[in-house]
Amino acid sequence: MKVLVIGGGGREHAICWKLAQSRHMPEIYCAPGNAGTAMHGRNVAIAADDIAKLLEFAKQERIDLTIVGPEDPLCLGIVDVFSEAGLRIFGPNKAAARIEGDKVWAKKLMREAGVPTAEARVFEPTFQELAQIRGARHPDDAEMPPSVETGYKMARRYIESRDEGVVVKASGLAKGKGVFVHDDPKDALSTLEDLMVKRALGDAGSRIVVEEILVGREVSILALVDGSTIYILESAADHKRLGEQDTGPNTGGMGAFSPSGMLTEKDLALIEREVFVPIIDAMRRVDIDYRGVLYAGMMMTAGGPKVLEFNCRLGDPEAQPLLMRLKTDLIDTINAVIDGTLDELELEWDRRASLCVVMASGGYPGHYERGLQITGLEEAANVENAVVFHAGTRRLGDRVETSGGRVLGVTAIGEDLQMARTTAYEAVRNIAFDGAVVRGDIGMRVSGR
Ligand code: AMP
Ligand code: GLY
Repeated sequence: MKVLVIGGGGREHAICWKLAQSRHMPEIYCAPGNAGTAMHGRNVAIAADDIAKLLEFAKQERIDLTIVGPEDPLCLGIVDVFSEAGLRIFGPNKAAARIEGDKVWAKKLMREAGVPTAEARVFEPTFQELAQIRGARHPDDAEMPPSVETGYKMARRYIESRDEGVVVKASGLAKGKGVFVHDDPKDALSTLEDLMVKRALGDAGSRIVVEEILVGREVSILALVDGSTIYILESAADHKRLGEQDTGPNTGGMGAFSPSGMLTEKDLALIEREVFVPIIDAMRRVDIDYRGVLYAGMMMTAGGPKVLEFNCRLGDPEAQPLLMRLKTDLIDTINAVIDGTLDELELEWDRRASLCVVMASGGYPGHYERGLQITGLEEAANVENAVVFHAGTRRLGDRVETSGGRVLGVTAIGEDLQMARTTAYEAVRNIAFDGAVVRGDIGMRVSGR
Protein backbone atom coordinates (compact mmCIF):
# COMPACT_ATOMS: atom_id res chain seq x y z
CA MET A 1 0.00 0.00 0.00
CA LYS A 2 1.01 3.63 -0.52
CA VAL A 3 0.94 6.05 2.40
CA LEU A 4 1.39 9.82 2.14
CA VAL A 5 2.48 11.73 5.25
CA ILE A 6 1.88 15.47 5.19
CA GLY A 7 4.33 17.77 6.96
CA GLY A 8 8.06 18.09 7.34
CA GLY A 9 8.89 18.26 11.03
CA GLY A 10 10.13 15.92 13.74
CA ARG A 11 6.62 14.58 14.27
CA GLU A 12 6.38 13.60 10.61
CA HIS A 13 9.78 11.90 10.68
CA ALA A 14 8.62 9.93 13.73
CA ILE A 15 5.41 8.96 11.85
CA CYS A 16 7.45 7.79 8.82
CA TRP A 17 9.85 5.87 11.11
CA LYS A 18 6.94 4.09 12.76
CA LEU A 19 5.23 3.41 9.41
CA ALA A 20 8.44 1.81 8.17
CA GLN A 21 7.97 -0.85 10.87
CA SER A 22 4.38 -1.63 9.88
CA ARG A 23 3.38 -5.16 8.93
CA HIS A 24 1.60 -3.60 5.93
CA MET A 25 5.03 -2.66 4.52
CA PRO A 26 3.82 0.64 3.05
CA GLU A 27 5.53 2.60 0.33
CA ILE A 28 6.03 5.91 2.14
CA TYR A 29 5.75 9.40 0.65
CA CYS A 30 6.22 12.59 2.63
CA ALA A 31 5.25 16.12 1.55
CA PRO A 32 7.39 18.12 1.89
CA GLY A 33 9.42 15.96 4.32
CA ASN A 34 13.01 16.50 5.45
CA ALA A 35 16.35 14.68 5.29
CA GLY A 36 15.07 12.21 7.89
CA THR A 37 11.77 11.26 6.22
CA ALA A 38 13.77 10.61 3.02
CA MET A 39 15.45 7.70 4.81
CA HIS A 40 12.10 5.88 4.90
CA GLY A 41 10.54 6.84 1.60
CA ARG A 42 10.25 9.52 -1.04
CA ASN A 43 9.95 13.21 -0.30
CA VAL A 44 7.51 15.11 -2.47
CA ALA A 45 8.16 18.82 -3.02
CA ILE A 46 4.66 20.07 -2.18
CA ALA A 47 4.00 22.38 0.77
CA ALA A 48 1.86 20.94 3.59
CA ASP A 49 -0.84 23.56 3.02
CA ASP A 50 -1.05 23.31 -0.77
CA ILE A 51 -4.18 21.19 -0.70
CA ALA A 52 -4.93 21.32 -4.42
CA LYS A 53 -1.46 20.02 -5.35
CA LEU A 54 -1.54 17.38 -2.61
CA LEU A 55 -4.88 16.13 -3.89
CA GLU A 56 -3.60 15.98 -7.44
CA PHE A 57 -0.53 14.04 -6.28
CA ALA A 58 -2.55 11.62 -4.14
CA LYS A 59 -4.90 10.87 -7.05
CA GLN A 60 -2.10 10.46 -9.54
CA GLU A 61 -0.05 8.17 -7.33
CA ARG A 62 -3.15 6.30 -6.10
CA ILE A 63 -2.28 6.90 -2.47
CA ASP A 64 -4.18 4.47 -0.21
CA LEU A 65 -3.88 6.44 3.02
CA THR A 66 -2.91 10.01 3.85
CA ILE A 67 -1.79 10.98 7.36
CA VAL A 68 -1.82 14.69 8.19
CA GLY A 69 0.76 15.91 10.72
CA PRO A 70 0.35 19.69 11.19
CA GLU A 71 -2.68 21.82 12.00
CA ASP A 72 -2.65 24.18 9.00
CA PRO A 73 -3.89 21.72 6.36
CA LEU A 74 -6.43 20.29 8.84
CA CYS A 75 -7.84 23.75 9.58
CA LEU A 76 -7.91 24.51 5.86
CA GLY A 77 -10.10 21.44 5.32
CA ILE A 78 -7.76 18.92 3.67
CA VAL A 79 -9.74 16.05 5.20
CA ASP A 80 -13.00 17.28 3.65
CA VAL A 81 -11.36 17.74 0.23
CA PHE A 82 -9.68 14.31 0.21
CA SER A 83 -12.77 12.53 1.56
CA GLU A 84 -14.99 14.14 -1.08
CA ALA A 85 -12.56 12.84 -3.70
CA GLY A 86 -12.95 9.34 -2.24
CA LEU A 87 -9.45 9.26 -0.71
CA ARG A 88 -8.76 7.77 2.70
CA ILE A 89 -7.28 10.31 5.10
CA PHE A 90 -6.51 10.48 8.83
CA GLY A 91 -7.37 13.62 10.80
CA PRO A 92 -10.36 15.73 11.85
CA ASN A 93 -12.36 17.57 9.22
CA LYS A 94 -12.45 21.36 8.92
CA ALA A 95 -15.36 21.87 11.32
CA ALA A 96 -13.67 19.70 13.96
CA ALA A 97 -10.19 21.22 13.49
CA ARG A 98 -11.69 24.56 14.47
CA ILE A 99 -11.07 23.50 18.05
CA GLU A 100 -7.44 24.46 17.40
CA GLY A 101 -7.82 27.02 14.63
CA ASP A 102 -10.27 29.31 16.44
CA LYS A 103 -9.50 29.84 20.12
CA VAL A 104 -12.57 32.03 20.61
CA TRP A 105 -14.82 29.26 19.35
CA ALA A 106 -12.93 26.66 21.41
CA LYS A 107 -13.38 28.76 24.54
CA LYS A 108 -17.12 29.09 23.92
CA LEU A 109 -17.38 25.36 23.33
CA MET A 110 -15.50 24.64 26.57
CA ARG A 111 -17.89 26.88 28.46
CA GLU A 112 -20.94 25.22 26.97
CA ALA A 113 -19.49 21.80 27.72
CA GLY A 114 -18.55 22.76 31.28
CA VAL A 115 -14.90 21.85 30.65
CA PRO A 116 -12.56 23.31 33.30
CA THR A 117 -10.40 26.04 31.74
CA ALA A 118 -8.92 29.46 32.55
CA GLU A 119 -11.42 32.27 33.18
CA ALA A 120 -11.43 34.30 30.00
CA ARG A 121 -12.89 37.27 28.17
CA VAL A 122 -13.11 37.44 24.42
CA PHE A 123 -12.57 40.63 22.47
CA GLU A 124 -13.27 41.13 18.83
CA PRO A 125 -13.15 44.23 16.64
CA THR A 126 -16.22 46.46 16.81
CA PHE A 127 -18.29 47.00 13.71
CA GLN A 128 -16.46 50.25 13.00
CA GLU A 129 -13.04 48.79 13.71
CA LEU A 130 -13.77 45.93 11.38
CA ALA A 131 -14.90 48.30 8.67
CA GLN A 132 -11.63 50.20 9.04
CA ILE A 133 -9.55 47.03 8.93
CA ARG A 134 -11.24 45.81 5.78
CA GLY A 135 -10.93 49.25 4.21
CA ALA A 136 -14.67 49.41 3.70
CA ARG A 137 -16.01 52.84 2.83
CA HIS A 138 -19.42 52.33 4.31
CA PRO A 139 -20.27 50.26 7.39
CA ASP A 140 -22.59 48.13 5.24
CA ASP A 141 -19.52 46.88 3.35
CA ALA A 142 -18.13 45.25 6.46
CA GLU A 143 -19.09 41.79 7.54
CA MET A 144 -20.89 41.78 10.87
CA PRO A 145 -18.68 40.52 13.68
CA PRO A 146 -19.64 37.06 14.91
CA SER A 147 -20.90 38.01 18.35
CA VAL A 148 -20.76 40.76 20.99
CA GLU A 149 -18.96 43.89 19.91
CA THR A 150 -16.39 44.70 22.50
CA GLY A 151 -13.52 46.07 20.55
CA TYR A 152 -9.98 47.15 21.22
CA LYS A 153 -10.89 49.94 23.63
CA MET A 154 -12.90 47.61 25.83
CA ALA A 155 -10.05 45.11 25.81
CA ARG A 156 -7.67 47.88 26.94
CA ARG A 157 -10.01 48.97 29.69
CA TYR A 158 -10.42 45.41 30.88
CA ILE A 159 -6.67 44.78 31.05
CA GLU A 160 -6.08 48.15 32.77
CA SER A 161 -8.58 47.16 35.42
CA ARG A 162 -6.67 43.99 36.31
CA ASP A 163 -4.19 43.77 39.18
CA GLU A 164 -2.94 40.37 38.24
CA GLY A 165 -1.10 39.12 35.19
CA VAL A 166 -2.95 38.00 32.09
CA VAL A 167 -2.46 35.77 29.09
CA VAL A 168 -3.29 37.32 25.72
CA LYS A 169 -4.02 34.86 22.93
CA ALA A 170 -4.56 35.44 19.24
CA SER A 171 -7.65 33.49 18.25
CA GLY A 172 -6.32 32.14 14.96
CA LEU A 173 -3.38 29.92 14.03
CA ALA A 174 -0.05 31.63 14.64
CA LYS A 175 2.51 28.81 14.44
CA GLY A 176 2.90 28.74 18.22
CA LYS A 177 3.59 32.49 18.36
CA GLY A 178 0.14 33.71 19.32
CA VAL A 179 0.22 33.28 23.12
CA PHE A 180 1.67 35.95 25.42
CA VAL A 181 1.93 35.43 29.17
CA HIS A 182 2.29 38.76 31.02
CA ASP A 183 2.92 38.76 34.76
CA ASP A 184 2.33 42.52 34.73
CA PRO A 185 -0.95 43.47 33.03
CA LYS A 186 0.61 46.76 31.82
CA ASP A 187 2.89 44.77 29.54
CA ALA A 188 -0.16 43.13 28.03
CA LEU A 189 -1.32 46.49 26.64
CA SER A 190 1.43 46.61 24.03
CA THR A 191 0.68 43.01 23.00
CA LEU A 192 -2.94 44.03 22.62
CA GLU A 193 -1.97 46.95 20.42
CA ASP A 194 0.35 44.78 18.33
CA LEU A 195 -2.41 42.26 17.71
CA MET A 196 -5.56 44.34 17.39
CA VAL A 197 -4.25 47.61 15.97
CA LYS A 198 -0.92 46.91 14.28
CA ARG A 199 -2.24 43.49 13.27
CA ALA A 200 1.16 41.85 13.76
CA LEU A 201 -0.40 38.42 13.16
CA GLY A 202 -2.93 39.60 10.56
CA ASP A 203 -6.43 38.16 10.83
CA ALA A 204 -5.22 35.48 13.26
CA GLY A 205 -4.84 38.14 15.95
CA SER A 206 -7.77 40.43 15.26
CA ARG A 207 -9.94 38.49 17.73
CA ILE A 208 -8.31 37.74 21.03
CA VAL A 209 -8.80 35.84 24.26
CA VAL A 210 -7.59 37.45 27.50
CA GLU A 211 -7.40 34.96 30.32
CA GLU A 212 -6.10 34.41 33.82
CA ILE A 213 -2.66 32.91 34.29
CA LEU A 214 -2.88 29.33 35.44
CA VAL A 215 -0.14 28.01 37.68
CA GLY A 216 0.83 24.37 37.96
CA ARG A 217 2.48 21.58 36.05
CA GLU A 218 1.78 21.40 32.36
CA VAL A 219 0.97 18.08 30.76
CA SER A 220 -0.10 17.00 27.28
CA ILE A 221 -2.94 14.51 27.13
CA LEU A 222 -3.56 13.12 23.69
CA ALA A 223 -6.44 10.91 22.72
CA LEU A 224 -7.56 9.01 19.65
CA VAL A 225 -11.18 9.72 18.85
CA ASP A 226 -13.12 7.74 16.26
CA GLY A 227 -16.41 9.59 16.40
CA SER A 228 -17.60 7.74 19.49
CA THR A 229 -14.78 5.94 21.32
CA ILE A 230 -12.13 8.01 23.11
CA TYR A 231 -8.80 6.29 23.75
CA ILE A 232 -6.42 8.28 25.94
CA LEU A 233 -2.79 7.72 24.95
CA GLU A 234 0.06 7.41 27.43
CA SER A 235 0.76 10.79 29.02
CA ALA A 236 3.48 13.13 27.78
CA ALA A 237 4.90 16.53 28.64
CA ASP A 238 6.85 19.04 26.64
CA HIS A 239 9.07 21.98 27.51
CA LYS A 240 7.67 25.06 25.79
CA ARG A 241 10.17 27.66 26.95
CA LEU A 242 13.46 28.23 25.15
CA GLY A 243 15.62 28.50 28.25
CA GLU A 244 16.54 26.14 31.03
CA GLN A 245 14.34 26.09 34.11
CA ASP A 246 11.51 27.08 31.80
CA THR A 247 12.64 30.65 31.16
CA GLY A 248 12.63 32.76 28.01
CA PRO A 249 10.15 32.89 25.17
CA ASN A 250 7.69 30.15 24.25
CA THR A 251 8.71 27.88 21.39
CA GLY A 252 7.04 24.99 19.58
CA GLY A 253 8.70 22.75 22.18
CA MET A 254 12.35 22.20 23.12
CA GLY A 255 11.92 18.63 24.29
CA ALA A 256 9.35 16.14 25.51
CA PHE A 257 9.03 12.92 27.43
CA SER A 258 6.58 10.13 28.15
CA PRO A 259 5.23 9.05 30.59
CA SER A 260 4.85 12.48 32.16
CA GLY A 261 5.19 11.06 35.67
CA MET A 262 2.77 13.75 36.83
CA LEU A 263 -0.56 12.00 36.72
CA THR A 264 -2.22 9.34 38.78
CA GLU A 265 -4.81 6.96 37.35
CA LYS A 266 -7.35 9.09 39.17
CA ASP A 267 -6.17 12.28 37.43
CA LEU A 268 -6.40 10.57 34.05
CA ALA A 269 -9.89 9.27 34.75
CA LEU A 270 -10.90 12.78 35.83
CA ILE A 271 -9.47 14.34 32.67
CA GLU A 272 -11.27 11.80 30.52
CA ARG A 273 -14.57 12.38 32.34
CA GLU A 274 -14.42 16.17 32.70
CA VAL A 275 -12.55 17.17 29.56
CA PHE A 276 -12.65 14.65 26.72
CA VAL A 277 -16.14 13.22 27.12
CA PRO A 278 -17.96 16.58 27.48
CA ILE A 279 -16.03 18.31 24.68
CA ILE A 280 -16.67 15.46 22.22
CA ASP A 281 -20.35 15.47 23.28
CA ALA A 282 -20.55 19.24 22.78
CA MET A 283 -19.13 18.87 19.28
CA ARG A 284 -21.53 16.07 18.49
CA ARG A 285 -24.42 18.35 19.50
CA VAL A 286 -23.39 20.70 16.69
CA ASP A 287 -23.02 17.78 14.27
CA ILE A 288 -19.24 17.56 14.44
CA ASP A 289 -17.96 14.02 14.13
CA TYR A 290 -14.43 14.23 15.57
CA ARG A 291 -12.06 11.63 14.10
CA GLY A 292 -8.34 11.83 14.69
CA VAL A 293 -6.04 12.91 17.49
CA LEU A 294 -7.42 15.34 20.06
CA TYR A 295 -4.68 16.91 22.18
CA ALA A 296 -5.54 18.70 25.42
CA GLY A 297 -2.80 20.98 26.77
CA MET A 298 -3.56 20.79 30.51
CA MET A 299 -2.38 22.73 33.54
CA MET A 300 -2.54 20.71 36.76
CA THR A 301 -3.53 23.56 39.07
CA ALA A 302 -4.23 23.50 42.80
CA GLY A 303 -7.90 23.70 41.82
CA GLY A 304 -7.67 20.62 39.58
CA PRO A 305 -6.77 20.04 35.93
CA LYS A 306 -7.65 22.88 33.55
CA VAL A 307 -7.44 23.07 29.77
CA LEU A 308 -4.96 25.56 28.28
CA GLU A 309 -5.78 24.70 24.71
CA PHE A 310 -6.94 21.96 22.41
CA ASN A 311 -4.95 20.86 19.38
CA CYS A 312 -6.36 18.81 16.55
CA ARG A 313 -3.26 16.66 15.90
CA LEU A 314 -0.28 14.94 17.45
CA GLY A 315 2.03 17.24 19.40
CA ASP A 316 5.50 18.00 18.15
CA PRO A 317 7.80 16.98 19.93
CA GLU A 318 5.43 14.84 22.06
CA ALA A 319 4.82 12.52 19.08
CA GLN A 320 8.47 11.46 19.06
CA PRO A 321 8.54 9.81 22.53
CA LEU A 322 4.93 8.63 22.20
CA LEU A 323 5.51 6.86 18.89
CA MET A 324 8.73 5.38 20.23
CA ARG A 325 6.68 3.79 23.02
CA LEU A 326 3.74 2.67 20.89
CA LYS A 327 4.05 -1.02 20.10
CA THR A 328 0.86 -1.43 18.08
CA ASP A 329 1.10 -1.11 14.30
CA LEU A 330 0.47 2.52 13.34
CA ILE A 331 -1.54 1.69 10.24
CA ASP A 332 -3.83 -0.67 12.21
CA THR A 333 -4.27 2.09 14.80
CA ILE A 334 -5.11 4.74 12.20
CA ASN A 335 -7.47 2.42 10.35
CA ALA A 336 -9.38 1.79 13.58
CA VAL A 337 -9.88 5.56 14.03
CA ILE A 338 -11.01 6.11 10.44
CA ASP A 339 -13.35 3.08 10.49
CA GLY A 340 -14.77 3.78 13.95
CA THR A 341 -13.54 0.49 15.40
CA LEU A 342 -11.25 1.81 18.14
CA ASP A 343 -13.26 -0.12 20.74
CA GLU A 344 -12.00 -3.36 19.17
CA LEU A 345 -8.33 -2.36 19.33
CA GLU A 346 -6.13 -2.92 22.37
CA LEU A 347 -3.18 -0.56 22.04
CA GLU A 348 0.11 -1.90 23.37
CA TRP A 349 2.76 0.34 24.90
CA ASP A 350 6.39 -0.15 25.80
CA ARG A 351 6.38 0.25 29.58
CA ARG A 352 9.78 1.99 29.41
CA ALA A 353 10.24 5.78 29.30
CA SER A 354 11.13 7.85 26.27
CA LEU A 355 12.58 11.33 26.02
CA CYS A 356 13.24 13.72 23.14
CA VAL A 357 15.83 16.53 23.19
CA VAL A 358 15.36 19.19 20.52
CA MET A 359 18.41 20.74 18.88
CA ALA A 360 17.42 24.16 17.55
CA SER A 361 19.03 26.83 15.38
CA GLY A 362 20.71 29.74 17.16
CA GLY A 363 18.21 32.62 17.27
CA TYR A 364 15.07 30.41 17.24
CA PRO A 365 12.18 31.22 17.88
CA GLY A 366 13.27 34.54 16.34
CA HIS A 367 15.44 34.95 13.26
CA TYR A 368 17.96 32.18 12.50
CA GLU A 369 20.33 31.16 9.75
CA ARG A 370 19.74 28.16 7.48
CA GLY A 371 22.13 26.04 5.46
CA LEU A 372 24.56 25.17 8.27
CA GLN A 373 26.21 21.78 7.98
CA ILE A 374 25.22 19.16 10.54
CA THR A 375 27.86 16.62 11.53
CA GLY A 376 27.83 13.50 13.70
CA LEU A 377 24.40 12.21 12.67
CA GLU A 378 25.64 8.69 11.97
CA GLU A 379 27.55 8.47 15.23
CA ALA A 380 24.45 9.62 17.09
CA ALA A 381 22.26 7.09 15.27
CA ASN A 382 24.67 4.33 16.40
CA VAL A 383 23.95 5.06 20.04
CA GLU A 384 21.90 2.12 21.23
CA ASN A 385 18.25 2.91 22.05
CA ALA A 386 18.45 6.36 20.42
CA VAL A 387 16.85 7.62 17.22
CA VAL A 388 17.64 10.97 15.64
CA PHE A 389 14.42 12.42 14.29
CA HIS A 390 14.96 15.20 11.78
CA ALA A 391 12.88 18.37 11.71
CA GLY A 392 14.34 21.41 9.90
CA THR A 393 16.96 19.57 7.83
CA ARG A 394 17.65 18.98 4.16
CA ARG A 395 20.11 16.84 2.27
CA LEU A 396 22.38 18.23 -0.43
CA GLY A 397 24.42 15.35 -1.82
CA ASP A 398 26.36 13.90 1.09
CA ARG A 399 25.77 16.91 3.25
CA VAL A 400 22.88 17.36 5.67
CA GLU A 401 22.20 20.95 6.63
CA THR A 402 19.84 22.99 8.77
CA SER A 403 16.70 24.39 7.17
CA GLY A 404 14.44 25.35 10.05
CA GLY A 405 14.16 26.53 13.65
CA ARG A 406 13.86 23.19 15.32
CA VAL A 407 16.47 21.06 13.56
CA LEU A 408 16.54 17.65 15.24
CA GLY A 409 14.68 15.75 17.96
CA VAL A 410 17.12 13.28 19.46
CA THR A 411 14.95 10.65 21.13
CA ALA A 412 15.82 7.69 23.33
CA ILE A 413 14.07 4.93 25.22
CA GLY A 414 15.27 3.58 28.57
CA GLU A 415 14.24 1.66 31.66
CA ASP A 416 13.23 4.92 33.31
CA LEU A 417 13.23 8.62 32.48
CA GLN A 418 16.74 9.06 33.87
CA MET A 419 18.15 6.36 31.59
CA ALA A 420 16.28 7.65 28.57
CA ARG A 421 17.67 11.11 29.30
CA THR A 422 21.26 9.88 29.67
CA THR A 423 21.04 8.06 26.34
CA ALA A 424 19.39 10.97 24.52
CA TYR A 425 22.07 13.42 25.68
CA GLU A 426 24.81 10.92 24.81
CA ALA A 427 23.49 10.90 21.25
CA VAL A 428 23.14 14.71 21.24
CA ARG A 429 26.83 15.09 22.15
CA ASN A 430 27.83 13.49 18.84
CA ILE A 431 25.98 16.06 16.76
CA ALA A 432 27.18 19.55 15.91
CA PHE A 433 26.15 22.53 13.83
CA ASP A 434 27.01 26.20 14.28
CA GLY A 435 25.02 27.93 16.96
CA ALA A 436 23.05 24.82 18.00
CA VAL A 437 20.79 25.47 21.00
CA VAL A 438 19.98 22.59 23.33
CA ARG A 439 18.35 22.69 26.74
CA GLY A 440 20.26 20.59 29.22
CA ASP A 441 17.32 20.01 31.55
CA ILE A 442 14.77 18.15 29.44
CA GLY A 443 12.72 15.84 31.64
CA MET A 444 14.09 17.41 34.77
CA ARG A 445 11.60 20.07 35.61
CA VAL A 446 8.51 19.15 36.15
CA SER A 447 7.48 22.27 38.05
CA GLY A 448 5.01 24.97 37.17
CA ARG A 449 5.66 27.98 34.99
P1 AMP B 1 -1.48 27.48 24.06
O1 AMP B 1 -1.07 27.55 22.61
O2 AMP B 1 -2.79 28.10 24.36
O3 AMP B 1 -1.25 26.14 24.69
O4 AMP B 1 -0.37 28.32 24.81
C1 AMP B 1 1.01 28.02 24.68
C2 AMP B 1 1.62 27.95 26.04
O5 AMP B 1 1.39 29.16 26.76
C3 AMP B 1 1.02 26.86 26.92
O6 AMP B 1 1.57 25.62 26.65
C4 AMP B 1 1.37 27.40 28.29
O7 AMP B 1 2.71 27.12 28.63
C5 AMP B 1 1.20 28.88 28.11
N1 AMP B 1 -0.17 29.26 28.51
C6 AMP B 1 -1.27 29.32 27.74
N2 AMP B 1 -2.35 29.69 28.44
C7 AMP B 1 -1.92 29.88 29.71
C8 AMP B 1 -2.57 30.25 30.93
N3 AMP B 1 -3.86 30.55 30.98
N4 AMP B 1 -1.81 30.33 32.02
C9 AMP B 1 -0.49 30.06 31.98
N5 AMP B 1 0.17 29.71 30.89
C10 AMP B 1 -0.52 29.61 29.75
N1 GLY C 1 4.40 20.68 21.57
C1 GLY C 1 3.27 21.50 21.49
C2 GLY C 1 2.46 21.36 20.29
O1 GLY C 1 2.66 20.48 19.48
O2 GLY C 1 1.56 22.16 20.10
